[in-house]
Amino acid sequence: MTLLVTGCAGFIGSNFVHTWLAGSDEPIVNVDKLTYAGNLSNLESVLGDARHTFVQGDIAERALLDKLLALHLPRAIINFAAESHVDRSIHSPIDFLHTNVMGTFHLLEAARDYWTAQGQPEGFRFLHISTDEVFGSLGPQEPGFSETHGYEPNSPYSASKASADHLVRAWHHTYGLPVLTTNCSNNYGPYHFPEKLIPLVIHNALSGKPLPIYGDGQQIRDWLYVKDHCLAIQCVLDKGLVGHTYNVGGNNEKTNLEVVETICATLDRLRPLASGRSYRDQITFVKDRPGHDRRYAIDASKIQRELGWTPQESFESGIAKTIAWYLDHPEWVASITSGAYRDWVEQQYTAKTGAA
Ligand code: NAD
Ligand code: DAU
Repeated sequence: MTLLVTGCAGFIGSNFVHTWLAGSDEPIVNVDKLTYAGNLSNLESVLGDARHTFVQGDIAERALLDKLLALHLPRAIINFAAESHVDRSIHSPIDFLHTNVMGTFHLLEAARDYWTAQGQPEGFRFLHISTDEVFGSLGPQEPGFSETHGYEPNSPYSASKASADHLVRAWHHTYGLPVLTTNCSNNYGPYHFPEKLIPLVIHNALSGKPLPIYGDGQQIRDWLYVKDHCLAIQCVLDKGLVGHTYNVGGNNEKTNLEVVETICATLDRLRPLASGRSYRDQITFVKDRPGHDRRYAIDASKIQRELGWTPQESFESGIAKTIAWYLDHPEWVASITSGAYRDWVEQQYTAKTGAA
């Protein structure tokens, strides 16, 4: 019994490895290319653990996948590997097509050949981790995305994830590969790379830098604590029906401005500024993201009703844990905000504000 997981040196994948190994002795083989978003420091506590094998590699490298599948004989593959940042997809979409589309294709083909060579075991699963962004943007009064909502991806990132979802669906429909797909809302928590809103704001606040809010800050996201997402993935792997998709969300709709104000208020309490001022004073409205989706929200009733999963954390408890984690791990933040990270921040925010 082994899981082959991809992209687990990144944010959600590394949290998945920690969550999994806290509750199971089933080994994990972790294949990650170690792009700018992949950090072995996210996995420090399990690097010497016999249950975790790390392999640096690209999911678009078919020969490597074949070798790993034949060697480790996994009972399931979970695909976290992706280019995941919308702003980067706007600057440079090609990596998103390479990994999210072609990488998923090669992984599906490797899985299909492996599953066939094994005699098509009934219990085998290919679990694909996707996003709510494939559904597009909701109006203010519309109900949350259900599994039957149409696909209307609006960014190069979401279009590449939508393509991958369609490939996964087709490999089940055409070849019978036993697939599952999860479409989740915005995650936050430990090991979140500070290019994304929540860790960026925590990092900038503590560094005395502007807290950049795109446009009017009234865009809405449905926030889910990352451990709850990891538990949902375990639940779908254990109990999900082959060929089904499951939407996962926190039932925590917040505007971006509300999120940033909550972070500022929490930091004012936990790490007050010597000047007596509030971190709120660092909030800066900047040029909007092109094609910015206005609202995402998930209807998670299917996974709740059919598989019995519900999130454990409220936004208030999850954000407090997250901020406490960042305050307790300054060395982790320092290690991943070196050279390449600084280049990205300069490129992304100088154009928006005139200053990095
Ligand atoms: P991340 O960017 O933090 O991590 C992605 C990981 O994939 C990195 O470790 C990177 O090195 C690796 N990777 C990239 N290209 C690769 C390749 N070609 N081969 C092997 N490894 C490669 O992303 P994340 O936020 O942890 O997201 C994980 C998955 O969950 C993605 O598929 C993403 O679309 C999905 N998702 C993310 C969120 C969110 O809020 N972060 C929400 C819903 C779904
Ligand atoms: O909905 C799930 C998706 O959530 C995942 O599929 C993506 O991988 C993940 O990156 C995330 O996408 P978002 O674009 O919603 O996340 P991000 O943290 O980049 O932005 C959250 C919101 O905050 C969004 O409305 C844009 C805004 N924002 C973001 C940044 C980085 C700002 O206002 N300022 C910023 O500096």
